[in-house]
Amino acid sequence: MASRLHAHIGTFRQLEILLAVYHGGSITAAADSLFLTQPTVSMQLKKLAEAIGLPLYQQVGRTLRFTDAGLATVETAKKILQNCEELEMRLSRFKGLESGTLKLAVVTTAKYFIPHLLGPFCQRYPGIDIQLTIANRQQVMERCENGADDFYVFSHLPEGLELDVIEFMANDLVAIAAASHPFTQQERVSLAEFCQEDFLIREVGSGTRYATEAFFKKQPYQPNIKMTIASNEAIIHSVLARLGVSILSAHTLAFGNIYGVQVINVESLPIKTRWSFSWTRQRALSPIAEVFLNYVQTEGREIIQQTVQLS
Ligand code: PGA
Repeated sequence: MASRLHAHIGTFRQLEILLAVYHGGSITAAADSLFLTQPTVSMQLKKLAEAIGLPLYQQVGRTLRFTDAGLATVETAKKILQNCEELEMRLSRFKGLESGTLKLAVVTTAKYFIPHLLGPFCQRYPGIDIQLTIANRQQVMERCENGADDFYVFSHLPEGLELDVIEFMANDLVAIAAASHPFTQQERVSLAEFCQEDFLIREVGSGTRYATEAFFKKQPYQPNIKMTIASNEAIIHSVLARLGVSILSAHTLAFGNIYGVQVINVESLPIKTRWSFSWTRQRALSPIAEVFLNYVQTEGREIIQQTVQLS
């Protein structure tokens, strides 16, 4: 007799939740990424496990370990949702560009300018929904590996992934201090002096941390790390509060109207990087993604440059 499993599985959304838990490694991470509460995520997974008739995972200490049945379900869920995306893509060809979703995943520091790129595009194509994920470099790399989105924005590209890439703007990582700090009165601060100050650094996994560590690896002095902070904004506030100095992308200041924090002229800085816009070969571009890519290539650079200059 043919299996009736599909009749028991509640919704595709449960499969989506299952994948979010699998990729995120925890109920909390899945709830955050899907904007759901933790009890909702747990409840949906419980229903899915009931439909499957076997437990999907076990909680071992603080770790969530998927059972063989859970892993098999994850594998099938991926295929089912991929098929749905393909269907959506084919349907959007019939519908033209009237509707559909564009999925972008960008590193946290790109959040200051990506909305300015999206604004004119969304006005031109009001029927297109945008799903914008903002996460640190490590998390965006994971999404990229899983082919979760149409496009990814990094300033330090992941290694070992087959990506098509266009570069579109400079991203300078500058030294900053509170406006009241004596460094702001110095024409030039030596790296030795800078390294004597308490240093505030982004979390492991962030592109900013990656670039900062790569920079200091080549220097004779090392920063005096005082605090690790997983947010550009919180670092800026901490600099304002005179908790230390830091190195952040200049965009974090330019777009935020930050008063009281100043760029300081430190020997060998800024760290020069470039933003790139990338997409994986494993995921075919949808018609909407193709139009967006064309927009980025033809007008996007200029729109962003203008925004940067105005900020
Ligand atoms: P981050 O990435 O926001 O994860 O620090 C920024 C970058 O790649 O420069």
